[in-house]
Amino acid sequence: MKKNFFIAIEGIDGSGKSTQIKLLKENFEKEGYKVYTTFEPTDSEIGKMIRNIFSNKMEADHKTIAALFVADRLHHILNTQDGILKKLAEGYTVITDRYYFSSYAYHSVHVDMDWVIASNSQSAQLLKPDLNIYIDIDPEISMKRINAGRESTELYETLENLQKVRAKYLEVFEKLKNIEKILFIDGNMPTEIISRNIWENTKKIIG
Ligand code: ADP
Ligand code: TYD
Repeated sequence: MKKNFFIAIEGIDGSGKSTQIKLLKENFEKEGYKVYTTFEPTDSEIGKMIRNIFSNKMEADHKTIAALFVADRLHHILNTQDGILKKLAEGYTVITDRYYFSSYAYHSVHVDMDWVIASNSQSAQLLKPDLNIYIDIDPEISMKRINAGRESTELYETLENLQKVRAKYLEVFEKLKNIEKILFIDGNMPTEIISRNIWENTKKIIG
């Protein structure tokens, strides 16, 4: 492995993304890479608006939410302070907790999937991940983890919705499998085993 990479981690809420990003970062760093981790929704003003909607402080239609994510993502890629393109140009391997596949899966529960994909086409043209890692988990397990760890749940965090989102992830991976690099990981396992699977397969795919 030589150059720096852009990797997106995907999965339903509570699938273990944050846990695995920390471990993946450590594995890259052991090999001498400098790593920058980031996330969507971002902590920009656009991201804050999205979080206000998720915590029911502001009401918005699903189409509006999908469009806010389009803007948040473009800002995430392009902003000149700490945008992903800037970090890549500085030589960082960038790992993001969620990218456009999250939009494809979460918003196509409510609006047409092709519209969601088309509305994100600018991001896909600007910056396609070297690898999308999807952590697959039974929604019943992820709901148990979410409920154990927090007092309140967000807009999309119901069992019924997460089951639909998981189905949409599987649908869109099938749809885009020829133009995107996707690593499918079984997330219903102990943390260490998932981490090893991710690292060994990541090295094989991008190494
Ligand atoms: P996400 O970032 O996808 O929401 P987290 O990494 O925050 O997920 O994990 C959600 C919760 O599940 C946390 O409390 C975390 O400690 C726990 N967790 C993560 N991975 C595992 C695992 N493989 N087995 C059991 N619990 C896990
Ligand atoms: P996140 O903070 O990553 O939640 P979690 O750590 O529980 O997975 O994401 C917040 C919510 O935003 C999550 O329910 C998924 C949703 N989301 C979308 O609906 N569309 C998107 O494009 C993205 C990036 C996230």
